[in-house]
Amino acid sequence: MNYRHEFHAGNFADCFKHALLVSLMNALRLKPAPFCVLDTHAGSGQYDLESEAARRTGEANAGIRRLLDSTDPVLAPYLDLVRAIGLYPGSPRFVQALLRSEDRLLCCDTLPEAAVSLRRLFRDDRRISVHQRSAWEAVTSLLPPKERRGLVLIDPPYEAPNEFAQLADGLQQGHRRFGHGVFAAWYPIKQLAAVRAFLDRMQTQPIRDIITVELTLREPLDPSRLNGCGLLVINPPYRFESEAGAIAAAVLRGLGVTGPGAGSNVIRITDE
Ligand SMILES: C[S@@+](CC[C@H](N)C(=O)[O-])C[C@H]1O[C@@H](n2cnc3c(N)ncnc32)[C@H](O)[C@@H]1O
Repeated sequence: MNYRHEFHAGNFADCFKHALLVSLMNALRLKPAPFCVLDTHAGSGQYDLESEAARRTGEANAGIRRLLDSTDPVLAPYLDLVRAIGLYPGSPRFVQALLRSEDRLLCCDTLPEAAVSLRRLFRDDRRISVHQRSAWEAVTSLLPPKERRGLVLIDPPYEAPNEFAQLADGLQQGHRRFGHGVFAAWYPIKQLAAVRAFLDRMQTQPIRDIITVELTLREPLDPSRLNGCGLLVINPPYRFESEAGAIAAAVLRGLGVTGPGAGSNVIRITDE
C-alpha cells in the first residue's frame, strides 16, 4: 500500500469533499458549545501543486485550478479558504481554519511522513493533536470525544479490495460509540457494483439518518478510472441536505463537466 495524496491533491474529488467539509464545519459552528473533529485519514495537511508529484498527474488543472474561476456564492466559503491558505490545503487545514478557541481536531494517519508533516504544521496549535495510528482503531479508541459533539471525517485511500467493507464496519463501530456525531465518509465511484453493495449494506443496518451526496463526471463504465465520488453523511446537520445538493451541482458546473453521465445528486439512505 503506497497511496500518496500529493499526486491527487486539488483534483475534482478533493474539491467536492472539501467544499462539503467546509459546509459541515460551518454548520457545527452555528452552536456555541465546543466540538471535536476526528480526521481519521488526515494526509499531510498541505500540498504544493508545483511539486513533481502534482505536476506529473496534473489532476489539479481539471480540479481546483478550474474551480477557482467560479463565482457561485455557494462555493465562496470553500474557495475563500483555499485562496487564504494557499494551493492546496488538505482536510485538516480546512478544519483548523474553522476551529474556534475551545474546539479540537484529532488527526490520524498511518504514514510516518504524513504524521511528521502534520506535527510540523500544527506544532503551535494546542487545539490539534496528531496520532500516527490506524483509522480503524481510532474510531473506537478516540470516540466519543469529551465534547460529545462533532464530526468524524473518514477518507480512506481505497487501495485494498476490502476498503468499502472496512468503511462500513468502521462507521458502525464509530457510530456505536458516538451516536450523536456527524460522520462523513468519502468514497470513489469507479464502477457501480461496489458502491451499490456499500450503500445497500448501510441501508440495511440499524443506523438512522444517513444521506449520500454524489458527483459523477461520466458513466461509471471503466472501473480503472475515478468516474465520480460520493460523501456519505450520518446525522447531517439541519439544512445540509439541500446545501450539499447545491454545492455538488456548483462544483460540477465550475469544473465545466458536461456530457453523458455527468451529474450530481443527494440520496437519502435511511430515514431520520
Ligand atoms: C485520501 S488520503 C487523505 C486526504 C486528506 N483527508 C485530505 O482530504 O486532504 C488518505 C490517507 O490515508 C492514509 N491511510 C491509509 N491507510 C490508513 C489507515 N488504516 N489509517 C489511517 N490513515 C491511513 C494514507 O497515508 C493517506 O495519507
